[in-house]
Amino acid sequence: MRMLWKNIKGLVGVYDTPPLYLKGGEMRSLPVLEQAWLAIEDGVVVDFGSMEEFPGITDWSGLEVMDCEGKYVLPAWCDSHTHLVFAASRSGEFLSRLEGKSYQEIAAEGGGILNSARALQSMSELDLLADARNRLMQAMRTGTGSIEIKSGYGLTTEAELKMLRVIDALKSEFSIPIKATFLACHAVPEGDWTAASWTARMVEDALPAVAKEGLADYVDAFCEKGYFGLAETQSLLEASLLLGLKAKVHVNQFNAFGGVKLCVDAKAVSVDHLEELEAEDIDALKKAAASGHPTFATALPGCSYFLGIPYTPVLELMKADVPVALATDFNPGSAPSSNMSRVVQLAILKMKMHPLEAIAAATINGAAAMECSEQAGVIARGRAANVLLTRPMNGLEDLAYGFGEEPVEKVFIDGESL
Ligand code: NIG
Ligand code: FE
Repeated sequence: MRMLWKNIKGLVGVYDTPPLYLKGGEMRSLPVLEQAWLAIEDGVVVDFGSMEEFPGITDWSGLEVMDCEGKYVLPAWCDSHTHLVFAASRSGEFLSRLEGKSYQEIAAEGGGILNSARALQSMSELDLLADARNRLMQAMRTGTGSIEIKSGYGLTTEAELKMLRVIDALKSEFSIPIKATFLACHAVPEGDWTAASWTARMVEDALPAVAKEGLADYVDAFCEKGYFGLAETQSLLEASLLLGLKAKVHVNQFNAFGGVKLCVDAKAVSVDHLEELEAEDIDALKKAAASGHPTFATALPGCSYFLGIPYTPVLELMKADVPVALATDFNPGSAPSSNMSRVVQLAILKMKMHPLEAIAAATINGAAAMECSEQAGVIARGRAANVLLTRPMNGLEDLAYGFGEEPVEKVFIDGESL
C-alpha cells in the first residue's frame, strides 16, 4: 500500500534526525515544513519534502494520491498519563459536585478513588478488557497514537494485578506504543490500613509480583495530603528502582510539600499534575533538565478544567527550560475525557502555551515522558505512519481558535485510516 499526500499546508514535527525531546525554550521551534508532501509505504513514512522540490511521480502502481490543501499533518498525539482501565462512570459524583460538594469532600466520604475501587474489584477481567478496548479505540479515533495506562483502582494486590493484565492484553492487541504503570499507592483502602502500612504491603507483596511478571513499565504514587506522604512515596520509589522500575508520579495536585524534589532525586521519568508549584519545585526540575537527565513536567489541563482547580504554570516551567508534556489524565473522577485535541486547546487557551509549544508537549515530549521517543512523537523517515490530518485551518492557532470544533479530520495508524 503506497500513499502520497500532496499540498500539505504544514507538516508538523518533521525531522531528518529527530531529537529525543525539546526543552522549554526549544518547544516553540518545533519544525513545520510548509507546503509539503509526504510518502507512506506499508504503514511507514518513507519520504517527505517541500512541494517546490517535489520530484514528481514515476511509479503510479498501487499509488493512492491525496490532496491535503489547507490541512496540516501532525504526529499522532502521545498521551503519557491515563487511567483508561476503570469499571464505571462516576457521573453521580459529578452531580454532587454541581450541587456544591468538593472533590476532596466526596473522597473523604468514601467516594472518589474508593468508589472506583469497589466497582473494579467486582468486575471480571474480561469485562474490564472489553470496556478498556473500546475506550482505547475511542481515544485513537480522536488522534491518540501512543498511550500510558495506570492501574490504581484495584486497591488489593489481586485487583491491581488484574488491571495490569488488562493493560498487558491491550499491548498485545494494539500496534501503538502502550506503557503500563503500576499505581501502587493511589488511595488508602478502607479498613485498618494507613498510608504507611498500605505502602509496605504494596512494596513487599505486589511490587515483586508485578516486577516478576513484567506487568509494569513504571510505578506511581499519589503524593498528596490525605493520600501518601513523602516517606511513603520515597519508600515505594526506592524499592521500585531496586527492581528496575522507574517512576511517573502524581504530585502537587492540591498541595506542594517537597514531593517534586523527592521525585527528581529518585530519577523519576515524570512528575504529573503540578497545579501547585513552588520556586523550589521549579528549581529541582530546572537543575535536572540542565543536567541532561530531565524529569518531565506533565500538565493535565483537562483535570484543572473539570475540577476547577488552578492550571499548571507551564510558562514558568518552560522559562526554566524544563521539558513540558501534556496528557489527558483520562479517568472517571477528575478528567473524564480521552481527547488530546481538547487538552491541546485548553493548554493554548488557559495556560497560554503557543500552539507549537502545546503540540510539542502533546507529541515529542509526551513520547519522551513515556520513553518511546524512537516509536512515537515525530514524523520521520522509517517511522510508523501514526499521524493525524487536520481540517482546513488558517494556521495552527486554529487548533484552539475554533474551540468547539474537532480539529482532527482523520487519524492514521500504521498508514491506515481509522
Ligand atoms: O490523576 N489524583 C489522583 N488520581 C487521578 C484521579 C483519581 C480519581 O478521582 O479517580 C488523577 O486526577
Ligand atoms: Fe492521574
